Formats: sequence, C-alpha cells, structure tokens
Amino acid sequence: MSDKNRVHIKGVGKYLPDKILTNKDLENIVDTSDKWITTRTGIKQRRIADDNTASSDMGYKASKEAIADAGLKPEEIDLIIVASITADMFFPSTACLIQKELGIESVAAFDISAACTGFTYAVSIGEKFVKSGQYKNVLVVGTEKLSSITDWEDRNTCVLFGDGAGACILSESKDDNGILSSYLKADGNYGYLLKVPAGGSRMPATHETIDKRLHYLKMEGSELFKVAVRRMEESIKISLKKAGLTYSDIDVIVPHQANIRILKAVSRAINVPVEKFFINIQKYGNMSGASTAVALAEAVKQNFIKKGDIVVLVAFGGGLVWGANVIKW
Ligand code: UT7
Repeated sequence: MSDKNRVHIKGVGKYLPDKILTNKDLENIVDTSDKWITTRTGIKQRRIADDNTASSDMGYKASKEAIADAGLKPEEIDLIIVASITADMFFPSTACLIQKELGIESVAAFDISAACTGFTYAVSIGEKFVKSGQYKNVLVVGTEKLSSITDWEDRNTCVLFGDGAGACILSESKDDNGILSSYLKADGNYGYLLKVPAGGSRMPATHETIDKRLHYLKMEGSELFKVAVRRMEESIKISLKKAGLTYSDIDVIVPHQANIRILKAVSRAINVPVEKFFINIQKYGNMSGASTAVALAEAVKQNFIKKGDIVVLVAFGGGLVWGANVIKW
C-alpha cells in the first residue's frame, strides 16, 4: 500500500455468551451486595460462558461477524492476531484454533499477551503489517473466558469479571480515515498487582498450587485503581499529541471497562465529558482483552461512533501495560 494511506477498521464483531450472572446471583455465592458492586464498580451483571465454550469458540463467533461486517470472505484474511490471557491452552495458539474454525489456509496466526491492553496492542501490531504491505486484511480478536481463572470464593475479584469476545478487521483505507497514532507502554515492576501465580513454568501445577488456589487471578485492586487513572490519562494525552490533536478534538473514547469510577476519574482528569465515553461495564463487567473490542463493536453498531469522528481506544491492565490508539473513523 502507499506510504500515505492509512489503515482503518473495516469491520467489527462481537460475541457474548447467553448466560447472565447478576449481582443478586453473586449475593448467594459470596458475602457481597448489589449495592456495593454497583456503587464501587458500576457493574450490574456479566456474561458467563458454559463448560463447553472456550476463548477460541467465542473469538471465532466474533471473527465471523467482523469478517462479514467488513464485506470480506474468510479466505481474504491473511493474518490473525488474538489478544487473550485465557487462551484455550498454552499451545496451539488461540489464533491457530480460530484459523482452523474459520477454515482458511495460507494465513499467519499468533497470540499476544498484554492483558486488558491486548486489543490496543494487537490493533497497533496489525496496523504495521498492513502498512508494510505484508498483509492486506488482518483479523484482530480480543477474547476471554475470565470465569475460568476467577476464584468464586474471593469477593474482591469474582464480582468484577465476565466472558466475551470482540473482533475487528484492519485494511488499507481508501480515504483519509484510519489509525492516526498508537501509544503502547509497559512496566513489569508492578506486575505483582494483578496476576495468576501458578500454572506457568515458574510454578507448574501441583496438588499444593491447586489447594492454595494459585491458579486463580489475584489482584491488589486499590493500588491498581490509582495507577489505572494516571496511565489512561497519559495514554490519551500522548497518543493525541502524536496524532497532532488535543482533548477538544475527541468525539468518542472507547475505554477498557474495569471500573466506572476509573472512567469518571479519567474524564475529570482530561476534562472530557463522560458522555463521550462509551460505557457498557454495567452489562458485561471487566472482560480484559475483550473489553475494548466488544465496546468498539457496540459503539459502532449503536451509532455512538459516526463517520469522521475522532475515536480514542484506551486501556490499562496487568503487566502492567497501558496504551491507546487514535482513529479517524
Ligand atoms: O482491568 C484492569 C485492572 N483492574 C483495575 O484497574 C481494577 C482497579 N481497582 C478497582 O476497580 C477497585 O479497587 C475495586 C473495585 C477492585 C475495589 O474497590 P475499592 O473501592 O478500591 O475497594 P477496596 O479494595 O479498598 O475495599 C473496600 C472494602 C474492603 O472492606 P474493609 O477492609 O474496608 O472492611 C473490602 O473487603 O470493600 C470490601 N469489599 C467488598 N465488599 C462487598 C471488597 N470486595 C467486596 C465485595 N462486596 N465484592
């Protein structure tokens, strides 16, 4: 493609499992209340995938929708990038499993691990492949079955997360719309704030790791909260600057949905009204790598995003990792 042309999002898709777990349902599982969850997080319910559904199954369904939305056939996809922290298994990659389900050949496929910022990272990586001319149509998927790493005895975390998948197609733009800039950052010094301790090469599965519940997600929520606000603000500020824009140019912010209070704090920090933030946390909770992907798909389908809008995708998560993409829609 020409150096001058941008890479744009040609289609979007999503998939959410049917089963709804409400705050009221959680009151019967742990010592919590609808009032606490609603006021402290903004979450009212979340979706939970059944035992036979893994991240690749949800990612496949979101992918099919995104490919159709882009007006493409599956065989026109030449690269698949999946962002997930709940891959079906260590390997094969979830991207390969989705490729198999899509029934397409002659395609490259790989996973990335960047937790809640995974979709933002993957969009930026995919853009580079289209820009370089190596691939024409890149499928980017954020898919998570967080219920599979949730400790249903830990009220600090189990009320926060949900399952789902979102996807988009990146292709060369025919006009001046497309990705204007990306900003990606990481700091492993704070990795301890959000992690699944066991199951990897440092602490392989044993009876002891299972007894100690070390295969479940652990989080130091209030520490993360402060960093999240600061890093999301930084991501929006620097990505806009790289695009030659300012806060007043923003039409829509599609943020990672971890906590409504984080989003309101970011809104105050950058003085952009919260009405410009697309928020669906009340329906789905925090879906890590799928959150921004699903939010983008819904924002487009609900006409929250319109042609020509300046849209900022922004995320923050375990790693720690944070970043943003500025897109002219
Ligand atoms: O996805 C990206 C990364 N994730 C984040 O960025 C998440 C950031 N953190 C947060 O969203 C919030 O910190 C939480 C929602 C996780 C927690 O809210 P908080 O206002 O920071 O609460 P806290 O952890 O300071 O806990 C306050 C109290 C504690 O009780 P005591 O010690 O004050 O008596 C908790 O035990 O709330 C209690 N608590 C609960 N009470 C009822 C914690 N979870 C619950 C619960 N129901 N589910």
